[in-house]
Formats: sequence, C-alpha cells, structure tokens
Amino acid sequence: MTPMMSASLPARPASHAENFSLRDFLPLPDQGFAEQVETFSRHYRAAAEAGATLYMREIQGPADAEVRVLDPLTGQVRPMIMLGSNNYLGLTNHPRVKEAVKAAIDEFGVGCGGPPLLNGTSRLHRELESRLAALKGAEDCVLFTSGFLTNLGWMGALMRPQDVVIYDELSHASLFDALKLTRCRSQFFRHNDLAELAQILTATRTRAPKANIVVSVEGVYSMDGDLAPLPALRALCDQHGAWLMVDDAHGTGVMGAGGAGTSAHFHTPVEVNMGTFSKSFGTVGGFLTGSRALIDYMRFFARSHMFSAALPHPVVATVLAGLDVMADEPWRQEKLHANADRLAAGLRGLGLDVNYESAIIPLIVPVAVDLRLLTRRIHEEGLFVNAIEAPAVPADRQRLRLSLMATHTEAHLARAIEVIGAVGREVGLVSGP
Ligand SMILES: Cc1ncc(COP(=O)(O)O)c(C=O)c1O
Repeated sequence: MTPMMSASLPARPASHAENFSLRDFLPLPDQGFAEQVETFSRHYRAAAEAGATLYMREIQGPADAEVRVLDPLTGQVRPMIMLGSNNYLGLTNHPRVKEAVKAAIDEFGVGCGGPPLLNGTSRLHRELESRLAALKGAEDCVLFTSGFLTNLGWMGALMRPQDVVIYDELSHASLFDALKLTRCRSQFFRHNDLAELAQILTATRTRAPKANIVVSVEGVYSMDGDLAPLPALRALCDQHGAWLMVDDAHGTGVMGAGGAGTSAHFHTPVEVNMGTFSKSFGTVGGFLTGSRALIDYMRFFARSHMFSAALPHPVVATVLAGLDVMADEPWRQEKLHANADRLAAGLRGLGLDVNYESAIIPLIVPVAVDLRLLTRRIHEEGLFVNAIEAPAVPADRQRLRLSLMATHTEAHLARAIEVIGAVGREVGLVSGP
C-alpha cells in the first residue's frame, strides 16, 4: 500500500482500484515456489475448464471490429463482434499502416540492437518524436517501449525522496508500481475530488514548503471512461506551485482536435504529458512530451528509457503511419464518438444507466446479477466484451467495459444492443420487454 502522508484527512477505505495483486484475494501457501505456483494454477485451470472465465480467448486473425476467435467453450473458430479493444481508431489492420511497416522493415530491418542513448536512435525515431511533440503542442518528446515503462520512467527520473506525488485513486497499475519503485512521498485523492485535492495540496505545502509536487491524473480513466477536469486541476496546481502530469493513454487519438488528447480537448497545458501506442495506435510503446529541458532530462534519468532497448522500427513506422492516417482520415475520430453515442443511446433504450465521456462505456452490473453468467451468455451470442469484477473494481461497481472502435458499423452496434437486451433480460440486468 502506498504510504499515507496526511493524518488530518478522513479515514476511508483504500479503493485504489489497480493497487492490488491476486495474492490479496487468493491465499497462496508460503512454503515454496512450486506449491505457490501450483495452487494458483489449479485454481485458475479449474475456473477456466468450468467456463467461468473467458480470459485469453485466442484470436485467429487481425484485431478488427470483427474478430475470428477460437471459442474456448466449443473449440470452434467463429466470428465475433469486438467490443473490448483499445484499437479505438481501427488502425491495427489499416492497409496504409501495414504497407508503411513493410517498407520500414525493408529499409531499417526489425530492430535497433541497443538502447536509444547509444545505438538505438534512428531517423525514424527522431521523426516520430518530432511528430508527437507537434501533435501535443510540446517542445519535445521521448519514446519508451511501453506505456507502463513510461510511467515508471518519468516518476523515477523526476522525484526526490522529499518530493510528493499526489494522485487520483483510480490511477493505472503502472502508476502504483512507479510509486513502489520511487523513493518519494505520495498521497492519493478520491477520484476527481477537487475539494480533497485542494485540501491535500494545502496540507502538503504547509508541511513541506520546498517540496516539488506533481499532481498525477489520467486524461480518460480506463475503467470508467470519464475525464479528469483538467482546467480546474491546472488552476489548483498553479495556486500551489505543483506540476500537472496527465496519463493520456486512453485520450490520445480519441479526445481533442486531431486526436491530440485530453489536454488539447480542454485547451489546458500540462508539464508532463504521457501517452501510449497500445490504444489508438494499435501497437505497443509509450511516450512523454513536455519542454525541451524536461525531455533532455528524461533521456538521461528515466531508467526504463535509458537502460532498455529502443522501440523496433516496425513499431515506430506503425505509429508514424497512424499519425498520417489520423491527419488524413479525421472521420475515424468523429465516427468513434458517433459510435459511442449510438451504443449508449441503445443501452439507455433498454433502461440501462450509462455514463461516459470518451470511447469507453462502463455498463455497471448490480451485484445481484451474475456477471460471469452474463458475460458467458453474451460471448455465446457472439459479442466479445470484457467483464471487470472485484478486485479490479469494487464489487458493487462490477461491469462490462465496452470499448468502441471507429470501424464498428451500424449492424455491429445494432446486434450488440440486441444481444445485451436479450441476455440482459435472461439474467435480470434488463427488465421489461
Ligand atoms: C491509463 C493507462 N496508463 C498506462 C497504461 C500502460 O500502457 P501500455 O499498455 O502501453 O503499457 C495503460 C494500459 O492499460 C493505461 O490504461
């Protein structure tokens, strides 16, 4: 658990959604490695064989709006409508992106053979950094091989033991792991609770007038699809001399003009802007944008950047081509939001309560409804959705996490609403005809 700083704040349950390990929920024996791993393996395999979990369904082709899946329940390959992908803009299988990747392999080969600081920087890497800096309206950009490593990188680089990270409790697991690796002080505030954040900032400043403070939030929260109120957060940070850091994993490509992200959406500058390539760009990797000085510093102090091999050229080419597609096909971002609106309207038509501000729609499932049965039946009807249950979210906030793509058609969405309606009636999620 992250160390708590403020004694004056009300005691409350730590609902830090992603600061858990399955170990907290499944007692594992202490005796030895073999027994420990076998206990978990037995538990997991029993659940999988009983059809109680649908983790790791094997996809047999491109990750598109429609996927061919080896059905673990029947052993047959069949088409399913994908409503659980972060491939928001539908770029994973875009012909122009695939061509660019092939050309990059022909010109550069598949990898760099070293870290960015030494032999792992190519013309393509440089080009991508400057394109991303331009997208984000920043002076410079530095690349990482994943979003997870980006979060480990900036925090370890920036924070000294006396400095403080104040973070939203619904932050991603990588933020929690960064806190564990970084010897700094930290304090969480309730999700999007500006009054509590103000209280913590005041208390922190009083206690440590000279500390560097970063307020760390997500542009779009990955489980709820809601946004951080960046203008109000900016004002609080300015008032208390803190920096604002935004993890825009789910905002880049989705929010703001041209997909520039949540900071652009709110016209609110931030000191540290983080993004991933694993969502809208449909591949892997991460990046930070900020001032030239900040990025120079990150190149030498972010250990997950400096001591790890550079992004391979095919990945860099994927993102470069993705940026071209985003610029030339703005309909993708528009369609993505239109699709979210269409699905939300259909779900509301079933009498379901949905709240969303991005391309993620959380469909909260009351505890009285068997989430696993609901998910299994929806799977049987050909919808690929992700069920999120405790401990990943509080038990009374269990949900289907529906993610839209620009490439969903009206037929996909109509079918999704039909299935959720029919299965919802079966399991007691939907009432009425
Ligand atoms: C908010 C957020 N930050 C960071 C990450 C990690 O990104 P990556 O998958 O690129 O490692 C994720 C991915 O799930 C995320 O949702």
